[in-house]
Amino acid sequence: MMLKHIISMRDFSRDDIDIILAKAKEFEPIARGRKSGLLSGKILSTLFYEPSTRTRLSFETAMKRLGGEVIDLGSIESSSVAKGETLADTIRVIGNYADAIVLRHPREGAARMAAEYSKVPIINAGDGAGHHPTQTLLDLYTIMRESSLSGLKIALVGDLKYGRTVHSLAYALSLYHADMTLISPRQLQMPDVIKKDLKKQGAVISETTNLEEVIGDIDVLYITRIQKERFPDPAEYQKVAGSYRITEELLKSARDRLIIMHPLPRVDEIDPAVDRTKYARYFEQSFYGVPVRMALLVMAMEAG
Ligand code: NCD
Repeated sequence: MMLKHIISMRDFSRDDIDIILAKAKEFEPIARGRKSGLLSGKILSTLFYEPSTRTRLSFETAMKRLGGEVIDLGSIESSSVAKGETLADTIRVIGNYADAIVLRHPREGAARMAAEYSKVPIINAGDGAGHHPTQTLLDLYTIMRESSLSGLKIALVGDLKYGRTVHSLAYALSLYHADMTLISPRQLQMPDVIKKDLKKQGAVISETTNLEEVIGDIDVLYITRIQKERFPDPAEYQKVAGSYRITEELLKSARDRLIIMHPLPRVDEIDPAVDRTKYARYFEQSFYGVPVRMALLVMAMEAG
């Protein structure tokens, strides 16, 4: 597999994904601190037009633990973007400095557009409400390590309309023939185009607004934040804020082997008391971003 850019899960076959997950497993000891110089002499640029904690820092960590260097644009306000530079120009310029670019942008399609102007690999770290493929790969890795990808019964809960993590994840899970239950307020259902696409892949999906009714029947509960910043009208956000909250009480009817995942940041979707239960995996999940992003960086640097 030689993907130059990493833009959408639609560019990956199931075999591609399995290769990346296997590579990530090999990188786990390095992610935990074992020395490596695999990417020494390589430079990664991070270019974030939207806030980020895990994605940016885990890419940085992955690069540095592999012996590479990172240059970061820093805040948009302190760069030439504030003077009106276009994304296309910024990308062309950074391609003269770095061997690959990790880009997060508020506009859907921005990463695909950037790839057209870039001579170095573009890695999409989130384009508006569009895609977040590297998050999906770490989500799949978490499921592989902490549960199982075969015969999987999973619930995707929360903001399925604006949540880019669930858009990418649902598509990838369809390649694994997962049984998916989509749980959201009516206003925040998974967009029809994505559902159609999932069904075309042969995915088994059902939809409900009621989490209690499925909690006893799933292996993975994947909950997401309501994406406040994507609502055109703040009053509409207020109507759905706090729609779902995972509590110890709710978990009384959970399967023993259930795991709870969240791409983070959480706002109030998970009661902090749940962190101490055997079900919680969201902090492990954030660690798994490091070995998975190592695998992606090595692939991108080889392809670039
Ligand atoms: C997510 C994102 O940015 O889409 N965060 C992440 O990358 N882990 C989820 C979110 O912001 O809710």
